[in-house]
Amino acid sequence: MPLIHECVVTTLSPVGRPHIAPLGLIEDGPHWIIAPFRPSATLFNLSQTPKATASFTDDARVFAGLVVGHRTFPLTDIENWPAPRLSCALAHAELEVVRVEEDEIRPRFICRVKHTEAHRPFLGMNRARAAVLEAAILATRLGRLPREKIESEIAYLRIAIDKTAGEAEREAWDMVMEKIAEHLSRETA
Ligand SMILES: Cc1cc2nc3c(=O)[nH]c(=O)nc-3n(C[C@H](O)[C@H](O)[C@H](O)COP(=O)(O)O)c2cc1C
Repeated sequence: MPLIHECVVTTLSPVGRPHIAPLGLIEDGPHWIIAPFRPSATLFNLSQTPKATASFTDDARVFAGLVVGHRTFPLTDIENWPAPRLSCALAHAELEVVRVEEDEIRPRFICRVKHTEAHRPFLGMNRARAAVLEAAILATRLGRLPREKIESEIAYLRIAIDKTAGEAEREAWDMVMEKIAEHLSRETA
């Protein structure tokens, strides 16, 4: 399996409005691949404007916020590049689509990494942030997973939260847990 970079991708609507979504970009030698499932705004936008920006952040609240539907994170324009980055990004990459591999379920946009730039220092890995990321991905797949699987994953991930989370990670965890709890309570109703 190739390395996957979890990040936030900015694409542009046909009228130039930025759209952000958390996505895992697949590293493939010199290229990075954006693989959005159908249907999605990211997929539509990329087929219209083949330029995107990947923002890399260690703020777990961004991933949590996006999966619970908050889309209003501050963005910063990039010189000579149309898709803005997250203002809080530690680094960003400017991605230009060079080829599209069509697929009925999940097309692949093969991108050239035109430019990368660092903005803030990265201060190390953290288990709680990784746990929030896992829980955020889980929260996008709730309809496809049995209750037992969801509950056992959460129980395991919670260990890292209890042991290593700071305030921001706890806030992010609580946002995702609220969404998952709502789903589970709807299921029992
Ligand atoms: C960390 C993370 C990684 C994700 N990676 C992908 C991905 O590679 N492809 C995808 O279609 N959805 C992925 N998702 C789910 C999308 O973010 C979600 O479907 C989103 O709403 C995209 O749809 P949109 O472009 O219409 O906003 C991921 C979610 C998270 C939290």
